[in-house]
Amino acid sequence: MAIHTKSIQPFEGQKPGTSGLRKKTRVFMQPGFLEAFVQSIFEATGGAEGKTYVLGGDGRFFNAAAIQTILKMAAANGAACVLVGQNGLLSTPATSHLIRLNQTDGGFILSASHNPGGIEEDFGLKFNAANGGPAPEALTEAMYAISQTITSYKISDGPDIDLSRQHEASLDGMRVQVIDSVADYHALMRGLFDFDAIRALFAGGYRMVFDAMHAVTGPYAKAIFEDDLGAAPGSVRNAVPLEDFGGGHPDPNPIWASELMATMMASDGPDFGAASDGDGDRNMITGKGVFVSPSDSLAVLAANATAAPAYAKGLAGVARSMPTSAAADRVAEALGIEAFETPTGWKFFGNLLDAGRVTICGEESAGTSSDHVREKDGLWAVLLWLNILAEQKKPVAQLLAEHWARYGRDYYSRHDYEALPTEKAQAVMAGLRDQLASLPGRSVGGLTLTAADEFAYHDPIDGSTSSGQGLRLYFEGARAVLRLSGTGTQGATLRLYLERYEPPEGDHQRDLQAALAPLRDAVRSLARIEALLGRVEPDVIT
Ligand code: G1P
Ligand code: ZN
Repeated sequence: MAIHTKSIQPFEGQKPGTSGLRKKTRVFMQPGFLEAFVQSIFEATGGAEGKTYVLGGDGRFFNAAAIQTILKMAAANGAACVLVGQNGLLSTPATSHLIRLNQTDGGFILSASHNPGGIEEDFGLKFNAANGGPAPEALTEAMYAISQTITSYKISDGPDIDLSRQHEASLDGMRVQVIDSVADYHALMRGLFDFDAIRALFAGGYRMVFDAMHAVTGPYAKAIFEDDLGAAPGSVRNAVPLEDFGGGHPDPNPIWASELMATMMASDGPDFGAASDGDGDRNMITGKGVFVSPSDSLAVLAANATAAPAYAKGLAGVARSMPTSAAADRVAEALGIEAFETPTGWKFFGNLLDAGRVTICGEESAGTSSDHVREKDGLWAVLLWLNILAEQKKPVAQLLAEHWARYGRDYYSRHDYEALPTEKAQAVMAGLRDQLASLPGRSVGGLTLTAADEFAYHDPIDGSTSSGQGLRLYFEGARAVLRLSGTGTQGATLRLYLERYEPPEGDHQRDLQAALAPLRDAVRSLARIEALLGRVEPDVIT
């Protein structure tokens, strides 16, 4: 075996977005593309010499080949050891846990999350730091800077490692441990929740459906829900990870998980339904006849977390991404704990979690988690829901109705305009940005604006500032946010987040889109959506 230094030209656009570097799979498959970015990561983190890493992905097309390349590059760059999930599979939260459990220097996650997979679809690579969380902005900037001037990378010409069985191998002096993808994560979950209470729930005939969407959580969900907790065999659907996720979008929302929604809305539907995404960090929660919005889910989990042994002593604080609804803030206020509003993207929760300021965090985009890892965690959210339901012994719909009766309801929806020409999307943002100062006091469609700004986050732990994080329009009893997606791989996506508060004594059972229609119309007119985009209706409403 020998180590080779190969010359390359820098590639354009190796700038990590909201969650790592995401591109079309064919872009990643260009000779040297993956290699250039991986070498940039090693260099931005002070080199790989003597270091230990975790490596795995969501099983999408190109996962297995990329793992072999990264192993050979880690060996050539002098790494001491790499822990790889069997068959190359590791969910994102499991990777975060393994980094922390084994005190490694970081980890590589191969995934484009909820984006479709396949040679014509998407691929991605994310580096997580030693705390188990996504590389902070300063580090992703450093990776990008290096990728722009890189001239060579190092790679071993050793053989591929057999990933199909758990064993230990050596590659140019580097130790490779192919490990069980599920076991350590499963043990972590067992330590957080009251598994006996959940077991008793299922033993009493409680019916659950979990849709793994042919993505990475299948093996985890089978082991935990069916084999350990006793959910009926077959409760976990689409449990075998496939390279193209069966041709679907592994995105757990009512649109892409429509089969699950249909099951849950049927008159003889199960008691509880959930789904997770490509890499297992997102979650969708439903009950018989009811969908729980991610913003509400975060609030309900925060309000009832003490049901689980891990949170029995209460929460230090709660954090939510800026576009997420204020429902969690209301719970934090009632509990007398701190509430934080951070920019979109899990990396912004890391400092607060590390500093012990928050215990639970969440995003409107179906991400929720706690300080047990430094990523969002789909199965964790499902288990906490089950733990709460096992304690309270009431249907999801009733739990939600009681929550709203106490705190009020934040009607909430996100409207996405996808694959827009970048200039058009930017024109919407620029046009609105120009108006911000003149908006307070104005009335549009019967709604009065009270404040408007562009969100900048001042990290209370490290003092850093992240500006340009979305435009916020505050109305009396309502809020709208506009921002451009940082995860797309085609054109630009404009996200419009709508939120309207209905106090405890109000009507909480209105049709969601109807309740938000006046706000939606006001924002469409202020942002000149039709004039600038040439259309009014969004592509996806969640
Ligand atoms: C989206 C979500 C965001 C999430 C990210 C990664 O990012 O909006 O909350 O953290 O995916 O899963 P966006 O495309 O909006 O930048
Ligand atoms: Zn994901």
